[in-house]
Amino acid sequence: MSNKLTFSAEELQKLETIKKRYPEPKAALMPALWMAQAKWGWLSDEAMTCVAEALELPLAHVRGVATFYTMYFKKPMGKYHLQICTNVSCMLRGGDTIFAQAKARYGIGHNECTADGRLSLEEVECMGACGGAPMIAINEDYHENISFEHVEKLVASLP
Ligand code: FES
Repeated sequence: MSNKLTFSAEELQKLETIKKRYPEPKAALMPALWMAQAKWGWLSDEAMTCVAEALELPLAHVRGVATFYTMYFKKPMGKYHLQICTNVSCMLRGGDTIFAQAKARYGIGHNECTADGRLSLEEVECMGACGGAPMIAINEDYHENISFEHVEKLVASLP
């Protein structure tokens, strides 16, 4: 199958700038994968091939890094991606209950997406906001000291 996905000239320029920040281009892989995910929503084989070509890296290495880190989506996720922390501090303050309530309320499980593509759910490890446990993230935004009622209000307010 031919690789149909491509970075724009501006994106390639941005990648060149990122590469110059590091002693070797390989180190630019994580920001490059992040860029690809922001552009295409998830990292398909075609998207990973595009990154591999842009950084002149073996596809197997790109795939290995993308697979290792859960923040890189290997399948399409929702427009709004809810990450619910159930690690120790959050679990002790009800994070696991919030995750169970979210699964029941939205009818999806870990790393699943609603049929309309609006919402996806992920149970995550510590996101470094233990002082505000229990916490969730919706896309890039953290919400701390939350209850499930709070989660529902946040989701209902999403455009
Ligand atoms: S345990 Fe949830 S943010 Fe650290």
